[in-house]
Amino acid sequence: MNILMVCLGNICRSPIAEGILKDKAAKAGLNWRIESAGTNGFHNGEHPHQLSTKICLQKGIDISKQISRQFVKKDLSEYDLIFAMANDVIFDIQRIAQDEYSEQKVQLFLEPLYPGKLQNVPDPWYGTEKDFVEVYDLIDKACDTIINQYAHLSKSN
Ligand code: 4NP
Repeated sequence: MNILMVCLGNICRSPIAEGILKDKAAKAGLNWRIESAGTNGFHNGEHPHQLSTKICLQKGIDISKQISRQFVKKDLSEYDLIFAMANDVIFDIQRIAQDEYSEQKVQLFLEPLYPGKLQNVPDPWYGTEKDFVEVYDLIDKACDTIINQYAHLSKSN
């Protein structure tokens, strides 16, 4: 299964989500391809935010080598599932994807954890280390739910 995590800059939230889900999928024996992208492209080519990297490393997850890239229309055909960190990211994905947009593939990242609540992962970009820790914990919880919800679909792929 191919999964794409998407936020605005691809330097704070989606790199954490990529790192955590990759770690959990590997530990669960799932051969998933998990990547991330950002809708605004402002940080193309950059490594994740230093606080995202630091918090992940404290949990044994190294995201330092990830490189930010912009979400593109072709991603709709490349991935089976596209998780948007927030509602504004969904609108951006719709704008970029145009006729390729798929309600089956694109969903809010917190939908499996909090169904029907339309909740966002808060953007920690202007925040403190505490905000990044809270974002990490929320993403970690949501990734557990995603593993539980989708593992049976793809034990072998
Ligand atoms: P992210 O956070 O979407 O979680 O990577 C942001 C990082 C940078 C910007 C916005 C959000 N920015 O506008 O530069």
